Amino acid sequence: HVDHAIRPQRLTEYIGQPRVREQLDIFISAARQRGDSLDHTLIFGPPGLGKTTLANIIAAEMDVDIKSTSGPVLERAGDLAAMLTNLQAGDVLFIDEIHRLPASVEEVLYPAMEDYQLDIMIGEGPAARSIKLDLPAFTLVGATTRAGLLTSPLRDRFGIVQRLEFYAVEELTEIVVRSAHLLGVEADRDGAAEIARRARGTPRIANRLLRRVRDFAEVRGDGRLSEDIADQALNMLHVDRHGLDHMDRRLLMAMIEKFDGGPVGVDSLAAAISEERDTIEDVLEPYLIQQGFMMRTARGRVVTRLAYEHFGLTPSDAVASVP
Ligand code: ADE
Repeated sequence: HVDHAIRPQRLTEYIGQPRVREQLDIFISAARQRGDSLDHTLIFGPPGLGKTTLANIIAAEMDVDIKSTSGPVLERAGDLAAMLTNLQAGDVLFIDEIHRLPASVEEVLYPAMEDYQLDIMIGEGPAARSIKLDLPAFTLVGATTRAGLLTSPLRDRFGIVQRLEFYAVEELTEIVVRSAHLLGVEADRDGAAEIARRARGTPRIANRLLRRVRDFAEVRGDGRLSEDIADQALNMLHVDRHGLDHMDRRLLMAMIEKFDGGPVGVDSLAAAISEERDTIEDVLEPYLIQQGFMMRTARGRVVTRLAYEHFGLTPSDAVASVP
């Protein structure tokens, strides 16, 4: 896939997340100076912000190999054992969606993380035996959308915890300029900024929109990414001036039209728009909350005045308005 070509490989190529970059730079440099493996690292944040990219960068900076898997793929203790026994000293084991590890697999991870010990049962019935093995000093890098999804024994075993934030428009503009360059697209800074403003604070979305705007520019324009071409292409894609897409608008409009602006429980909302609850919590609402279109309260989700204004409505159009 083309993503490959534009993914940053090193910390110095990575744009945005200044606090994460600074801290990782220090922890990686210190571990390298001591000749240690890096402490286990948990990275959390909404999809598309660069968790997998950072895991790969950590391995590159530590000059070690990375083996990648994900929580749902590790169905049995043996699946994890196979990954763990395949590591060299210092290697990174990356587990994406680590909150979806089955409990029986998670238990194998505790002694592996803490003492580099593999302790599993093999076989069944009278033939069952317990096997203990020493593991190399590896680094577990776990990724999850929300740290709160992890059990506390697992969370407590990470020495380094990093939270990724939505990117500022300036940072996303830099990312689009960089990606355009790598893709061989001639881009005006204003064109890149227009994509950045409408990319939901998310590099993965910015890079996807860049590819679609490039298509538009090549067919309807002269191939150059200008602000006007970006605006036309994004309008065609129904990405609005705040970067909200069809799903975002559907969620906010359902809250306004079906629930008088809320408060409404996330399960009722999921049913109303025929979406998974997880999609609302992990994908849709983090950005809408960060941008001030909705809030989470003890009684449920509510839309804000800004959401009404976005649709050309006023909160008084609704029964329940948000102060
Ligand atoms: N591409 C995707 N995310 C990026 C980032 N944070 N920095 C540079 N290029 C990227």
